[in-house]
Amino acid sequence: MLHYEPKDLSIPEVHKLLLGGVAPRPIALASTISKDGINNLSPYSFFNAFGANPPVVAFSPSRRGRDATFKDTYNNLIDTKECVIQAVTHSMVEQISLASAEYATDVDEFVKSGLTPIDSDLVKPKRVKESPFQIECKLIEMKSYGDGGAAANLAICEVLKFHVADDLFTNGVIDPLKIDLVARMSGNFYSRAGNGVFEVEKPIGKKCIGYDQIPKHIRESEIYSANDLGKFGNSESFPDDKSVKEFIQKVIDEKQDNFENNIEAFLRYQRLNEYKKMLKAAVKINDNEKRNLELAAKCALLNNDMNYAWNAALYVKMV
Ligand SMILES: Cc1cc2nc3c(=O)[nH]c(=O)nc-3n(C[C@H](O)[C@H](O)[C@H](O)COP(=O)(O)O)c2cc1C
Repeated sequence: MLHYEPKDLSIPEVHKLLLGGVAPRPIALASTISKDGINNLSPYSFFNAFGANPPVVAFSPSRRGRDATFKDTYNNLIDTKECVIQAVTHSMVEQISLASAEYATDVDEFVKSGLTPIDSDLVKPKRVKESPFQIECKLIEMKSYGDGGAAANLAICEVLKFHVADDLFTNGVIDPLKIDLVARMSGNFYSRAGNGVFEVEKPIGKKCIGYDQIPKHIRESEIYSANDLGKFGNSESFPDDKSVKEFIQKVIDEKQDNFENNIEAFLRYQRLNEYKKMLKAAVKINDNEKRNLELAAKCALLNNDMNYAWNAALYVKMV
């Protein structure tokens, strides 16, 4: 590991560490208006949501690194106390990057970026038509930390109104693949959330056994990854020896179409992600039985079939 205290680094070095390690960051495309009525549009990735009652979001239009002056977004917020924040989709990313260029205060960045302004319902700043998620906000408080270049100005805002495209939802939830958001990472890197979306079952409301209660032979196996063990630990209980034996007997007795009972077939089932056939073959092939059972359990975990995973993993102790 490398170890740093901010006081021993330059400001750009500190900034780079934060950009790399606190990532991927959601991007707020913030629309504000000056007291003279000039629209401003700029992206901010020091941004997040902090509560739902009332709905609170915050982002940081920092002081300019070059000369510690305030950005137009900051000045507009102080003067008019309103903004609209929009989510940034992959189809908008080049245009929001264009909006981040340093234009003079009297330049309308809707015009520069080519994004389309539409009226808001409750605040003066315009919404961005291209974004499928827009929130009208009022400034609750501006918290400033430091007065040098890159000092944070935390604009804490309350959401007054949500505008959400109706085709974003699947089963009442905004679908990450449909909204296709991008996030900011270090340097010139962005991340397209859709490509990396996966599910992790929430442990909320469950009495999970936890990592320490996973049987030792499972915890110490070389086959399972840390994430595999995390999934075992996320269970509320696991089967006792009698149920494991009954489960395995059922697997042995069960007829499976085109089932073959040899190591070549086992390896083929593994390639095809067919964990049920893997387990049936594993209990029938004598060579490497423990390892094959563990591989079957691992494949069941990959398919989120915890019942198969536990029974296969626990049966290892009985062979
Ligand atoms: C994706 C992206 C994220 C950014 N995030 C921030 C940020 O969190 N804070 C900040 O001060 N500047 C950030 N910037 C830079 C501002 O967008 C840029 O300084 C902009 O010119 C400010 O415009 P303004 O002076 O019109 O408010 C970001 C730029 C990009 C492209």
